[in-house]
Amino acid sequence: MSDEASQGSVSDAPSQAPAGDAPGEALSLRGLVVERGNREVVRDVSIEIAPGEVTALLGPNGAGKSSMVLAVGGVLPLKAGSVMLGERELARRRPERIRHAGVAIVPEGRRLLPDLTVDENLRVATYSLKTEQAKAGRARALELFPELGKRLTTQASALSGGEQQMVVLAQALVSEPRFMIIDELSLGLAPVVVQRLIPTIRSVAESGIGVLLIEQFATVALGLANRAYVMEGGRILYSGHAQELREKPELLHSAYLLRGKTSGAVPAPTESGLPAAG
Ligand SMILES: Nc1ncnc2c1ncn2[C@@H]1O[C@H](COP(=O)(O)OP(=O)(O)OP(=O)(O)O)[C@@H](O)[C@H]1O
Ligand SMILES: [Mg+2]
Repeated sequence: MSDEASQGSVSDAPSQAPAGDAPGEALSLRGLVVERGNREVVRDVSIEIAPGEVTALLGPNGAGKSSMVLAVGGVLPLKAGSVMLGERELARRRPERIRHAGVAIVPEGRRLLPDLTVDENLRVATYSLKTEQAKAGRARALELFPELGKRLTTQASALSGGEQQMVVLAQALVSEPRFMIIDELSLGLAPVVVQRLIPTIRSVAESGIGVLLIEQFATVALGLANRAYVMEGGRILYSGHAQELREKPELLHSAYLLRGKTSGAVPAPTESGLPAAG
């Protein structure tokens, strides 16, 4: 309050302010509607993705999760709704514009160029970036996945599934995004590999990036997430704290069961947070 306080504030204490710009801008998906084959597969979906947090999106097969992701990324048309990054509208922009605005999408299924090396696959992801940004982004991605540093000259087709997923995640991270939408982190990966990826996703969020994590293994997603949404039949059926779903798995089961799905859609939790092997 006092002038002395403000004038005398030059101190040795480390600054509390983050290095980057002001924190707090969320990525807000509002009232999204997506049609596929003349049918609404995403209906009035609203999701808030906070910076520096993992937000989980759960839901059974066919819920509309991937369709929503592709529409946010500018790949599928949005019939209605908005995608706000702070005050900025990103809906219906071209995929490169959305990415340049700071939203990186990791679509379902891995898409590396198999004949190219790891290094070349990373270059493909940085080619539209300025040289310094590409360099910094690449260094940051390799810091998160040191394994890849030793595999730079390996052809993508020779990598294990887990290594391929690391390259896919690294491709998204090289542009140093503010938000990252990951559709099916653990698809086709062995539990031990998923365990390797979990701390990296946590580090990504701790670095300030807002992560929307779509994940078939509810326990993996809920173990990482602050907030969670459950989607079914194109709609959001639940939104709340991930902790609530961790403590009351019946909430999740009832959401999955609403339209007659079997409880098998939600693998039983295990101590590791991953489904039992075998
Ligand atoms: N190419 C397509 N053309 C027409 N309809 C599609 C197409 N792809 C998916 N759909 C339909 O859109 C709906 C939503 O599918 P989507 O793949 O978005 O769900 P999802 O929640 O990602 O499911 P999963 O958990 O299996 O990945 C489903 O009814 C699906 O059959
Ligand atoms: Mg999907």
